[in-house]
Amino acid sequence: MDPTVSIPLMRPQLPSADDLLPYLSRIDKRHQYTNFGPLCTELESALCSFQEKLFGRPVFGVCVNNGTAGLELAIAALGLPKASKVGVPAFTFPATVTAVQRCGLVPVALDIDPHSWALKPSIASQALEICDLKAVVPVCPFGTAQDANDWSNWTKKTSVPVIIDAAAAFGSQATASNVTVVFSLHATKALSSCEGGLILCENPALVRKLKSMSNFGFGQTSFCTATNAKLSEYHAAIGLAHLKVWPKEAEQRRQLLNRFSSALKKVSHQKFHAFEQNSTYAPTSCVIKTIEIGPSNRLEKALNREGIQTRRWYTPLVQNLPFLAPIQAPTPTKVADDLEKTILGLPFYLGLDDQSIGKITQVIEREL
Ligand SMILES: Cc1ncc(COP(=O)(O)O)c(C=O)c1O
Repeated sequence: MDPTVSIPLMRPQLPSADDLLPYLSRIDKRHQYTNFGPLCTELESALCSFQEKLFGRPVFGVCVNNGTAGLELAIAALGLPKASKVGVPAFTFPATVTAVQRCGLVPVALDIDPHSWALKPSIASQALEICDLKAVVPVCPFGTAQDANDWSNWTKKTSVPVIIDAAAAFGSQATASNVTVVFSLHATKALSSCEGGLILCENPALVRKLKSMSNFGFGQTSFCTATNAKLSEYHAAIGLAHLKVWPKEAEQRRQLLNRFSSALKKVSHQKFHAFEQNSTYAPTSCVIKTIEIGPSNRLEKALNREGIQTRRWYTPLVQNLPFLAPIQAPTPTKVADDLEKTILGLPFYLGLDDQSIGKITQVIEREL
């Protein structure tokens, strides 16, 4: 770690070599290293069972090599005409946008809701009045769930398909009929296979198609966009080992966020508020928004001076990212514009102790 950093932003925690060994021995014995091997299949069914237990709905799933590839496959499977417009939130990680662009479609930046910081059906409906959206990819900001039923009803009403980018929301995000959900299993996520992704939906035929699309399209009888997005057995091993401890870790994450949020409340003095994540199953971040523009910059500098790492998550907004092809925002993105200037992500990881939380809140109180 950089010696000037006293409290890092995150410290991923994946299974140890000892925890992985039984799974690796199975791979050694079987000599199957990828191509939908037994560990990958076991991980898929374990994740589907977990999701079914949590939400009481039957789901079907396919594991892929990362969340971005999962989004690309789910969007490509819609079979939209080239250059169709797809609504995405202005406030998201670039992968939401790159996935749309790599499918030959045109992302259109939409505003977010001021409370959930998420693109919601009412905002998509407004955009639909002036813009011919052919699909929408709402995001679960920092792992907080979207209402899948709301989106399902919206799709029924508008005939516009929805893919939820639920990268950090495994355990929080439900599926619904007509709504496909894509998760990331990246090392920074609460449940991880180091690199990996998971697509869940309630349509078994769609999952069969997605699986084939992740394997060059083998098995398809008509044209489909395809790639190689398979999850290797080694990555599946990490996912299976992590799943064993995940419910316990998720509980620890919730407790940590509660302790951190209470400490932040005591020093907020109405100058900032913490992003609400009450329904998040396994939080991976602690994010605040300052009430006025300006203080988050000052705070960022003060925390960084003390060796406390911060990040302005999901900024710049997607339409301001210099490395993406230009993105239009057909309606004003006022809420996202404000958040771009006032958001600040604080350190958050398993093992962040009360002393470190005390140091962070002290600097915030002093600075504000
Ligand atoms: C909102 C969002 N979408 C997509 C991704 C991409 O996931 P992956 O890193 O597994 O490709 C991320 C990654 O953090 C994300 O935050």
